[in-house]
Amino acid sequence: TRLCVDACARGWHEANGGNLSYRLDEDDLVALAPLLEPESQWHGLKRAVPELAGAHVLMSASGAYLSNVAYDPSHICGIIQLDACGESWRACWGFADDARPSSELETHLAAYATALRAGDGADRVVYHAHAPHVIALSTLIEPSPRAWTRTLWRTMTEGIVVFPQGIGALPWMVPGSPELAEATCELMAVHRACVWTQHGIMARAAGFDEAFGIIDTVEKSAGIHLGARAANGGAEPRHLVSDEQLRAICERYGLTPNEGFLD
Ligand code: 13P
Ligand code: ZN
Repeated sequence: TRLCVDACARGWHEANGGNLSYRLDEDDLVALAPLLEPESQWHGLKRAVPELAGAHVLMSASGAYLSNVAYDPSHICGIIQLDACGESWRACWGFADDARPSSELETHLAAYATALRAGDGADRVVYHAHAPHVIALSTLIEPSPRAWTRTLWRTMTEGIVVFPQGIGALPWMVPGSPELAEATCELMAVHRACVWTQHGIMARAAGFDEAFGIIDTVEKSAGIHLGARAANGGAEPRHLVSDEQLRAICERYGLTPNEGFLD
């Protein structure tokens, strides 16, 4: 709820823009067991996620305004269960009045699956926001992980600390499409966040604060870069964090940066 309130206050969730999910753990399931009433009907996934066989995921509903999550949780979100093969899902709680999981459900599931494959099983939150400076910058720079990462790392010192593996970036794709889920899944094997050109950004993280923090840091750096560029007559800002300085930050904080993004 706090993430939704904070993010809405920042203007990241116009109308039903953005979505949020949480992969439940064993303790959650024990605590929530009395509330779970699985529907009989299963819904097939276009892209199976065997890594998530039997998992339960809390997911915002399609068309739901995240700003309403505190007031009306059972309409705004719900819990789904994956079948024993990770090929279909059924609702277990929420999604009142025939609400359905977000149109980005398959992208969220793909992000969890890729996190599990990458050994990041602690990642239990996937979050997608329509962060305005990210969208603005995506109209200006090429959709390449290296271009995005270097632009942000070199704009604001904190960037490499928060996302030492860099961030992914994709060209424009149809929202909620299997192609977007597949491409995001590939990039999120390495990166905790992935920019969707002219659309927004998705992040995976261990908790809600961390997911918010990653997107907040990317969004803030993008805004600073755009502001500095505008103040410089549209030209590239003159004083950027150098590669030597980026390496010094990593040494000081014991970080292992993505070497492919350093010169
Ligand atoms: P949903 O309302 O289906 O979650 O879609 C919002 C969105 O941001 C799609 O990318
Ligand atoms: Zn979106």
